[in-house]
Amino acid sequence: MDKVYRSYYTKSDPIVTYMFEKACVRAGMRVLEPCAGDGVFVDVLLKLVSGVSIDIYELNPKPVHVLRNKYRDRANIRIIHGDTLTDVELTLFSNAGGFYDRVIANPPYGAWQDYEKRRYLRKLYPKLYVKETYALFLYRCVRLLRDKGLLVFIVPDTFLNLHRHTKLRSYLLTNTKIRELCLFPSSFFPGVNFGYANLCIITLERCANRSDCLANTFKVIAGLRDVGELGTLARWVEPHQEVSVFSQSDVYENIDHALLVSADPRITYIINNSDMRIGDIADCVTGFYSGNDKKYLRVASKDLRNAKRYDLADVSQIARDYATKNDILKGIEGTKCFIPILKGGNVRYYKPEMWYMDWGVEAVRNYKTSKKARFQNSQYYFKYGVGVPMVSASRITAALIENRLFDQSIVGIFTKNPKWIHFLLAFFNSALCNRLIRTINPTANNPANYIKKIPFAKPSKNELEKINGIVKSIIQNLKQGKKYNRECDFDLEELITKTYQL
Ligand SMILES: C[S@@+](CC[C@H](N)C(=O)[O-])C[C@H]1O[C@@H](n2cnc3c(N)ncnc32)[C@H](O)[C@@H]1O
Repeated sequence: MDKVYRSYYTKSDPIVTYMFEKACVRAGMRVLEPCAGDGVFVDVLLKLVSGVSIDIYELNPKPVHVLRNKYRDRANIRIIHGDTLTDVELTLFSNAGGFYDRVIANPPYGAWQDYEKRRYLRKLYPKLYVKETYALFLYRCVRLLRDKGLLVFIVPDTFLNLHRHTKLRSYLLTNTKIRELCLFPSSFFPGVNFGYANLCIITLERCANRSDCLANTFKVIAGLRDVGELGTLARWVEPHQEVSVFSQSDVYENIDHALLVSADPRITYIINNSDMRIGDIADCVTGFYSGNDKKYLRVASKDLRNAKRYDLADVSQIARDYATKNDILKGIEGTKCFIPILKGGNVRYYKPEMWYMDWGVEAVRNYKTSKKARFQNSQYYFKYGVGVPMVSASRITAALIENRLFDQSIVGIFTKNPKWIHFLLAFFNSALCNRLIRTINPTANNPANYIKKIPFAKPSKNELEKINGIVKSIIQNLKQGKKYNRECDFDLEELITKTYQL
């Protein structure tokens, strides 16, 4: 796979079947394949319908050669070796209000653009995030559709929620009628497994009337068990598949016009109508990186996960009274200069000390000057806060930072008022919090900017006392090396749910 062209070809019959059933191509239409590869979509199109005229664009000379050989006898096909995003003829079509009846594509995802090209794309698409090629293709191709023309694209689902695609969403919601979104894991696509995002097939109709666009409703289908189900999805829905209906005006009104794909409208309601967010009551910041953990980091035991490549900590070198030192950000003199650091990994409430960072004066000087190191948000180091791992494969978790250093795989949450610390620990470990953040951002990531956006609800005095009591007893048990009673999780979940009036 090369970084420039990003050629993941669509070698999957069910995906192609679903896309063509949605596209409803008929004789006499003008069809655009904006990034053809070796022509998977064109081959199917030629089998399904006759009498269509097809324009094919492809940037990479190798597949262009294949395409020219394959379709040399086809008078209805034009093959253009060119860049769909910048091609002058396409820009003319786009400025004239569109040209094509159908566009069907699997555009390149995150294709590498050199800096000069990025600058140029920024000029052409000033409102869009130019590093993500699929978003540019989507925008470009909607503008190439004539009014009422249809587009079917298979793309990552990140455009539905990420901040960087806010302008794209605003454009789509007010210039098209979305007909259907089908969401499924990237592993359904042969040879692809992003991990960071799911895939999405979007079907939309170009619509010149803004009010008609906003009055439109569309279906979101999720919960498919395997790729084969896409082969029949355009005709019937299986009982286990989740179908939700969204109104475009509701989505447009959402914060950042984000599509909050939650089957539960109450979650969406809380997200859009909350008076306060986590960012209002706490600072949320990313932590420290030494630039060379192999050299500076020590581990308590070689049995720990990912511990093999690090040296063992020497107990006699671990500093204990560091948090009270006024000039701790300058480092510690002498050999007793290793301090505990909290790292990622999903552990709830309390993480025992497992890792230590060299905090000697020389090491700290290096962290501050090395290009590789991240001595960021240092005013929060050694403070009493809550740490949420940046990546949580199954569920978001949180553990006390408790005056430790925290590394860049953790978002540190430091409440302006200490009375919320234990409440936040309970909240970030709750299923409700997980539903909220996964609705705001369905990827497995919890960056600080999304954590800030999570709604915050104030518990009553009575509820706060109960929550604090339970959380403190959980921490006490964990610190003594004991397990805590799992009933506590249910009690906390109930209290949190009540606080959020769900
Ligand atoms: C993900 S592949 C899809 C190919 C084919 N449509 C399929 O589904 O099998 C994307 C294709 O877009 C081409 N491509 C990348 N950037 C392009 C651009 N700016 N203009 C035209 N084609 C481009 C790549 O060379 C690659 O063949």
